[in-house]
Amino acid sequence: MAGMDISIENRFNHMPDNMEERDILSLLQWYVDSGVNETIDDLPQDWFELSRSLSKNPPEKPPSPTEKSGVLPKKMVSIEHIAQDAARMAASCNSLRELNDAIKDFDGCSLKKIATNTVFSDGNTDSDIMVIGEAPGVEEDRHGKAFLGENGQMLDRMFKAIGLSREDDFYITNILPWRPPGNRKPLAEEITICLPFIRRHIELFNPRLLILLGGISTNSLMGSDLGITRLRGKWLEYDLCGKTIPVRPLFHPAYLLKQPKAKADTWKDLLEIKAEIGEKTE
Ligand code: URA
Repeated sequence: MAGMDISIENRFNHMPDNMEERDILSLLQWYVDSGVNETIDDLPQDWFELSRSLSKNPPEKPPSPTEKSGVLPKKMVSIEHIAQDAARMAASCNSLRELNDAIKDFDGCSLKKIATNTVFSDGNTDSDIMVIGEAPGVEEDRHGKAFLGENGQMLDRMFKAIGLSREDDFYITNILPWRPPGNRKPLAEEITICLPFIRRHIELFNPRLLILLGGISTNSLMGSDLGITRLRGKWLEYDLCGKTIPVRPLFHPAYLLKQPKAKADTWKDLLEIKAEIGEKTE
C-alpha cells in the first residue's frame, strides 16, 4: 500500500483556481499511477467516537477543522446510510448465490474499488460448520476464494488434525469480502458497512456451529472488545434468528504461523470442537 496526504484541504490548497475537470482527472491519475491507493487525513481520527459525540447533540467545544469543512458530518451520515443500504440488500437475498451477487453489486465499500475479486467463501456449502476469518489476502484476492495461501494451508492443517476438511466438513468465509490494501487490519467503518452481509451469510448458511478465527472476527460478530487471548478457550453463543448456536473463537492461522507456541492452546480448542461435533452426531 502506498499512502499520501491527499486530504481535501491539502489537495485543494495546492491547486490553482482555474483547474479544469480534465486537469483534476489528470492529477488523480497521476496519484493512481504513482501507486497511491489510500487517502490519509491530516490527523488520525476516531471516526466512531466523533460520530457518537456529534449525534448526542453537539458539544460546546469548537468544531475541528474537518467538522468545519463539512466533510465529517457528510462522511459519518454516509457510513450509517451505506450500512443501511447493505442491510436492505442483504435482507432481500434468499440464497447464498443471491447474496454473492448482491455483494458483487454493492458499491458502498471503497475496498471493492481496489480489489481484484470479491471473495465470498470456500468449502462445502452442504456442511453445517461455518468458519469465519477476517478478510482476504493477496492470494484470495487474486483467485476469489477464501483462505488460500499459507494461512489457508495452516487452516487446513488445523482442521485435518481433528479429521475435518473444507471439501467435506466445513464452509469458510470472512468478515470482509474484499482485501484491505497491504493486508492492513480492516477499519471499523469497513466492518460496519459489511456486517449486514456476513450476518445474512450466517442466516442463509444456517450452521449448527460457528468457528471464529481471531479477535476481529469474534469482536465484530459477538459485539465484544476483548483480545483473542481472552476470548479463546470458551464457548460463546450466537443468536441465529431466535435459536442459539455455539460459537468457538480460535487463534487466527496467521497468528499461529507467527506464534507457534499458541498451537498448544489451539489444539485444546480443536479437541473441544471435535467433542462438540461428535456429541451432536452420535
Ligand atoms: N485469508 C482469508 O481468506 N481470510 C483471512 O482472515 C486471512 C487470509
